[in-house]
Amino acid sequence: MAQLSVAMFCCFSNCSQFQLLNKTVSSVFLRKMCMKKLLLLTSLIALSACNNDTPVFIEDDNNIGSLPSIPPSPENNPTTDEKVKLGKLLFWDPILSGNKDIACASCHHPNHGYAENLDLSIGVGGSGLSENRHGGKLIHRNAPTILNTAFNGMDEDGAVDPLNSPMFWDKRANSLEEQALLVLQSDVEMRGDTISEDDIMQVLSERLLNIAEYRSLFNNAFGDETINAERITQAIAAFERSLIASNSPFDLYARGDENALTDQQIRGMDAFVEAGCAQCHDGPMFSDFELHQLPVKENAKLVQLGVVDEGNEKRFRTPSLRNLSFTAPYMHNGTEATLRDAILFYDDIANPGNSEELANLNFDDVDSETLDAIEAFIHALSDDSFDKSIPQTVPSNLKPGGNI
Ligand code: HEC
Ligand code: HEC
Repeated sequence: MAQLSVAMFCCFSNCSQFQLLNKTVSSVFLRKMCMKKLLLLTSLIALSACNNDTPVFIEDDNNIGSLPSIPPSPENNPTTDEKVKLGKLLFWDPILSGNKDIACASCHHPNHGYAENLDLSIGVGGSGLSENRHGGKLIHRNAPTILNTAFNGMDEDGAVDPLNSPMFWDKRANSLEEQALLVLQSDVEMRGDTISEDDIMQVLSERLLNIAEYRSLFNNAFGDETINAERITQAIAAFERSLIASNSPFDLYARGDENALTDQQIRGMDAFVEAGCAQCHDGPMFSDFELHQLPVKENAKLVQLGVVDEGNEKRFRTPSLRNLSFTAPYMHNGTEATLRDAILFYDDIANPGNSEELANLNFDDVDSETLDAIEAFIHALSDDSFDKSIPQTVPSNLKPGGNI
């Protein structure tokens, strides 16, 4: 009965669930029902079933599939337009840094896919944007994109728990709210060394309270003018949950548009799965969100400083493969300059003796046609239609994005 009703309401739309059913449900009866478009009511259900609310998986291909368009929010922080509006201004406002010179957007800029084209980030005291950023405190890691981080932790079935949503290369935070707090408190990223870690959130709250426009924005978002660490991080997280890029060519293909991928990209998708990449890069986010130890090269800047990044017991989290067209260089320390280099990394190390983790990878001496196809497929996971708007001004009247 459930299958019958799914097939019926799909009659009224061109949705991909129907195509899947067409393959699996052999009943001619169901299709006849469809043609007659028996129930008007079902078209309403069709709308809700086919408006990209749920992932659509590619059959038999290791749980890779499309992303939904709306991420879940935690029960204690439902996403509202007012919170997103406030969170966006906070994201851009350098008033949240100790020295008022750096904002979240300094390192996560829409012109660079909400990441930056720089191997290792530069925090407090730095100036310039992306590859032109210089001076300041060197962060020991590459900045990942904020796009789709609302889906971090999505399992291979498409389920997400926003309060159990791993953040950072070593998974040390578990939600966007917690992540935002850690970066505001970090001396190298935003706090600087003039205000202590214990005091910083109080200082930031008071700074915001002194600005009438922020009092009114917090009132609109939370119902009164109280400003504290919890509300600041909740508003930023709500804004981040609005930064979704879920209409890549691959997503359109998974939802049923057979022409959305080129033949080369489809060959690349098959090669990606056959090589075993989806052992770790699976689910709609193309990540298992687990920690792995891969033989990633050392970054010379860190070697020179004598810095050894221990990660999480020497392991780093599988990154999503979405939107990589915008976020070169790659790996936790930015040591692979191009997407081709990042793919070739696996070709170089696919000797099982070199890495236990990659023992089941079938990717040695791959021909250039296959490499081209895999590269083309990974580009098809990027969606350029995300929100790139930059506020003209922020309530502090400081420069939006800080010293960039
Ligand atoms: C100095 C540059 C810099 C600034 C400023 C900065 N970030 Fe980041 N961000 C990074 C780097 C580098 C990482 C990775 C760090 C790690 O994994 O240890 C990161 C990681 C993240 C992640 C985790 C993404 C993932 O998939 O794991 C999120 C979310 C994020 N930042 C949001 C923010 C927000 C919100 C702000 C402002 C409150 C901010 N960042 C400010 C550089 C920066
Ligand atoms: C054992 C799990 C595993 C397998 C199998 C695997 N990867 Fe990865 N991948 C990772 C991890 C973990 C990282 C991050 C490593 C680091 O920075 O320390 C990564 C990083 C990447 C990156 C860089 C992404 C970024 O944002 O920096 C690309 C591209 C990539 N993998 C593609 C592939 C391809 C193509 C294959 C198959 C040939 C593959 N991976 C197989 C776990 C895996």
